[in-house]
Amino acid sequence: MSIFRDSLFAGRVALITGGATGIGRGIAEALARHGADVALLSRKAENLAAASAEIESATGRRCLALPADIRNPEAVDAAVIRTIAELGRLDILVNNAAGNFPCASEDLSPNGFGAVVDIDAKGTWHATRSAFRAWMKEHGGRILNISATLHHGGTPGQVHVAAAKAAVDAMTRTLAVEWGPLGVQVNAIAPGPIGDTEGARRLFPGPVADRLRAQVPIRRLGAIEDIASLALFVLSQAGSNLNGAILVSDGGLSLSGRFSVEPEGGPGV
Ligand code: HXC
Repeated sequence: MSIFRDSLFAGRVALITGGATGIGRGIAEALARHGADVALLSRKAENLAAASAEIESATGRRCLALPADIRNPEAVDAAVIRTIAELGRLDILVNNAAGNFPCASEDLSPNGFGAVVDIDAKGTWHATRSAFRAWMKEHGGRILNISATLHHGGTPGQVHVAAAKAAVDAMTRTLAVEWGPLGVQVNAIAPGPIGDTEGARRLFPGPVADRLRAQVPIRRLGAIEDIASLALFVLSQAGSNLNGAILVSDGGLSLSGRFSVEPEGGPGV
């Protein structure tokens, strides 16, 4: 049961990139359960249709499905315009779409590095720019970026993701200062390992997840629900003095100097 009141986001509209699965889906559903109408942007149409139907039936709110590749700025512009046309406004943007795969840096191709930077960093910029120009510049709004912790130190096998997420953090701080006077507040959540996600399945298969869990000070991996609840807090009135904040949610893992798991048998993630 949620600790937040059901009507917390009544009358609000939120667009969530990468909203069909994982953390994005969790945040979208949490916002809808608390009264918001939501729009999900995702590249995979089949995930999108299912997620949108399930969120509508579980919450009774509108859930618009927007098939688009976050790497295509024109497609993102069109998705933002459609959200405003069909749902009437755009109060909240959650930049969650991300790509990841573990790869030793010496083996990572320019295209592999570029694919992740294009999705995480440039994709965040595409949606942010569109939302600002189409709605938030005039009406204000809240932008929440989903970052990570792996670039707070050095995480082998993640040079592409670390570079991309560092750019996301830089955008968070820069735009918080530049757009704060216009009523647009930009914050980020930096999740550590979240067990029930596609990213975790890729990065921490099977026994690796058990080793990692043992290294987290609170002895558990995060859950999608942890990040969704924190997002509700940041985006609600409780977060109204937050701007440019990057909130770490990792059970204290990064404080122990770790951001991921050190595998047996050498460097990697
Ligand atoms: C090496 C790889 C690779 C791999 C892709 N590439 N997978 N290189 N090892 N496992 C390279 C390809 O060879 C190619 O380069 C380039 O990347 C683009 O690959 P494509 O398959 O053409 O690209 P595309 O399908 O557009 O996107 C690839 C992708 C994406 C980035 C891997 O499909 C993706 O990320 N999917 C997973 C989504 C996901 O898990 N999201 C959660 C993120 S979790 P060449 O040179 O061959 O052309 C997260 C935070 C984790 O971000 C924090 C944990 C603590």
